[in-house]
Amino acid sequence: MKIAILPGDGIGTEIVAQAVRVLDVLDLKFETETALVGGAAYEAHGHPLPESTLALAKAADAILFGAVGDWKYDKLERALRPEQAILGLRKHLGLFANFRPALCYEQLTHASSLKPELVSGLDILIIRELTGDIYFGQPRGRRTAVDGHFPGAEEAFDTMRYSRPEIERIAHVAFQAARKRGKKVTSVDKANVLETFQFWKDVVTEVHAQYPDVALEHMYVDNAAMQLVRAPKKFDVVVTGNMFGDILSDEAAMLTGSIGMLPSASLDKNNKGLYEPSHGSAPDIAGRDLANPLATILSAAMMLRFSLNLPESADRIESAVRAVLSAGLRTADIWSEGTKKVGTREMGDAVVASLRGKTITPITTKT
Ligand code: IPM
Ligand code: MG
Repeated sequence: MKIAILPGDGIGTEIVAQAVRVLDVLDLKFETETALVGGAAYEAHGHPLPESTLALAKAADAILFGAVGDWKYDKLERALRPEQAILGLRKHLGLFANFRPALCYEQLTHASSLKPELVSGLDILIIRELTGDIYFGQPRGRRTAVDGHFPGAEEAFDTMRYSRPEIERIAHVAFQAARKRGKKVTSVDKANVLETFQFWKDVVTEVHAQYPDVALEHMYVDNAAMQLVRAPKKFDVVVTGNMFGDILSDEAAMLTGSIGMLPSASLDKNNKGLYEPSHGSAPDIAGRDLANPLATILSAAMMLRFSLNLPESADRIESAVRAVLSAGLRTADIWSEGTKKVGTREMGDAVVASLRGKTITPITTKT
């Protein structure tokens, strides 16, 4: 088995380094190979997703990805911007099913911006379609308007589109995931306005006929954004398109205290996957040993479970993360009075120590 390690930009290199240490302790029998991606690859090879990196990602059994992006590349033409690396990997590898769990750790209930009773025990799974929608729809571009409110004016346009097979396969993923959890799927759309999402709703409803044991509800995206902060525990599995999923998954992440805690998996039809933290490259704190490595460490656990068929090793990592949280260790993003603030490296050290069987001494004095 081979894992491609793509740290990327900003805090990507620091957090991936900690996840790699965690994997090393488990002494699993796989090779790893590291490659540049994003802005780092652009600097070295003139492209955010060089052929060599794409070839490695294609050949590997799984990919552990950090983050890409930096404001300093905002002026580059779109095709050369760091974000094209992750979009290109999703597209070229057919990673259409994006799992973004939003799990509120009991130890972090107070780090959420919502009242503890609203988020305590929260466990929702956002399933975002990842290779279609307005993100990839053609045509797109700039032109002179021939109609609309200002004929003759310069305009820009993108195309929102979904085909039946694209909706069917993500719907199956969602219903199957719900079967293993709370048996409820909320399909988020904007069927009241958009043709694409009326079609989405119709197709999801059809697929649902094959899953009578799972409850299906439909919700407009604006309402879903509201319900997520009003009564988030009412959700179990949320399935939605690429753009709505991008937005709602950041919102859901915040409910759990910090986006720095949330892993994600992007899978193809054979469960080969790319695993990355749900957060970005955070250039403002890069290189300062401040970033929370837990989302990446938990992404490595998801990789072991989903793509490498090592559920016990995944469980071990997740237990180690719980142990360091219970011991009161916190990076700055999840720190609160009475807990111990640690850096990226020290957090990684603690997870490694816990995996080696060391008891992490509780230091919390939390009241
Ligand atoms: C995400 C990110 C990406 C997206 C960007 C970096 C292209 O926000 O993974 O959610 O919009 O999908
Ligand atoms: Mg996003």
